[in-house]
Amino acid sequence: MKILNVVGARPNFMKVAPLHRAFLTYPNIDSKIIHTGQHYDERMSSIFFEQLGLPKPDYYLGVGSGSHAVVTAKVMVEFEQIILKEQPDLVLVVGDVNSTMACALVAKKMNINLIHVEAGLRSGDRKMPEELNRILTDSISDYLFVTEQSGMIHLAREGVSEKRVHFVGNVMIDSLVYYQEQSAQLNLMDKLGLEKKNYVLMTMHRPSNVDQKNQLEKVVKMIQKISQFKKIVFPVHPRTKKYLKQFELFEKLENIPNLILLEPQGYLEFISLMENSEIIVTDSGGIQEESTFLRVPCLTIRDTTERPVTISIGSNVLIPKLDVDLIISTFKDCLNGKNDMRFEIPPLWDGKAAERIAAIIHHDFFPAKSIVQLKNVSLNG
Ligand code: UD1
Repeated sequence: MKILNVVGARPNFMKVAPLHRAFLTYPNIDSKIIHTGQHYDERMSSIFFEQLGLPKPDYYLGVGSGSHAVVTAKVMVEFEQIILKEQPDLVLVVGDVNSTMACALVAKKMNINLIHVEAGLRSGDRKMPEELNRILTDSISDYLFVTEQSGMIHLAREGVSEKRVHFVGNVMIDSLVYYQEQSAQLNLMDKLGLEKKNYVLMTMHRPSNVDQKNQLEKVVKMIQKISQFKKIVFPVHPRTKKYLKQFELFEKLENIPNLILLEPQGYLEFISLMENSEIIVTDSGGIQEESTFLRVPCLTIRDTTERPVTISIGSNVLIPKLDVDLIISTFKDCLNGKNDMRFEIPPLWDGKAAERIAAIIHHDFFPAKSIVQLKNVSLNG
């Protein structure tokens, strides 16, 4: 049985790595990696392949950057050729980036079974490109693997048949669990001169926060204010850097004392930065989950979240409208332990989600063999 796993942008790599590893434990599954090239830099892509032990992609589509339509269209045209050549039984897509939706649509139009990992998440905000990608991908998927309870509720509400939906946990947490020890060996705190639990880690790249001058000015103001009482470490996303330079704000940032500006970090380095930080300030999707698992308070600078479990039982707080005063007061509350965070880990975020997914797929394709195979896997540890 042949399965094509699609990766395109940075948050896809750590989700596909454990899945590919899990598929390889079954001799009758041929698992291939297709990289669309939506992210292409050494620091946004190659370093993740190296650190995650992912093999060189079987196909690299090299689509690069562009408008949403350009990226989506280029991925579709190239991916169709791969499907024609490979004739896979299954296509697997993860998350919510443009490559996810583009490959999902191509696969389904060619009658290939489609798997969506991280299905059912909804922010309710259709202005986010990711939300459209999620809705469109889920609506045509044959296997929908869900990370948190809210996903089950959304899919049921949208009329997706129960038979197609599986609550399996979170493959992103699989990678975190798998690489946490390796990351601890980097000694990054010493290298950067940082004191554990005495700095703020910041990331910011959502179009709504960085693409307009007035919003990005607020981000800079927020950094200035926080830096007055805490050291900040800020790996700058290429999108954010582009707009900081365009709006002539980058130099202002460089002159803020107590702020360490970094290039986008590798996966292992970033785990270390998250784990050792006192508070995280972000607008990322995945970091809300990683910080929940690591039990680090996280302030998410967005109006909505598609990952509500990180708020209901985890350590995440949502701060709408880029309200700088609210950010600072919530930040101070966090430092003083005045928030009602519960620091619990959501169900099935245990490092085994990819194994569950592979077992379900294998069982569907090889019902007779799967019991024996599963026994062998557990005997081999
Ligand atoms: C994309 C995803 C977003 C995800 C994010 C993680 C979509 C709609 N968005 O957003 O969900 O959270 O990735 O990073 O798919 N660039 C580089 N080098 C690269 C890649 C991009 O310099 O390797 C530049 C591009 O030229 C562009 C900007 O970064 O100017 C944005 O890249 P793009 O892939 O369009 O969107 P992201 O903001 O990264």
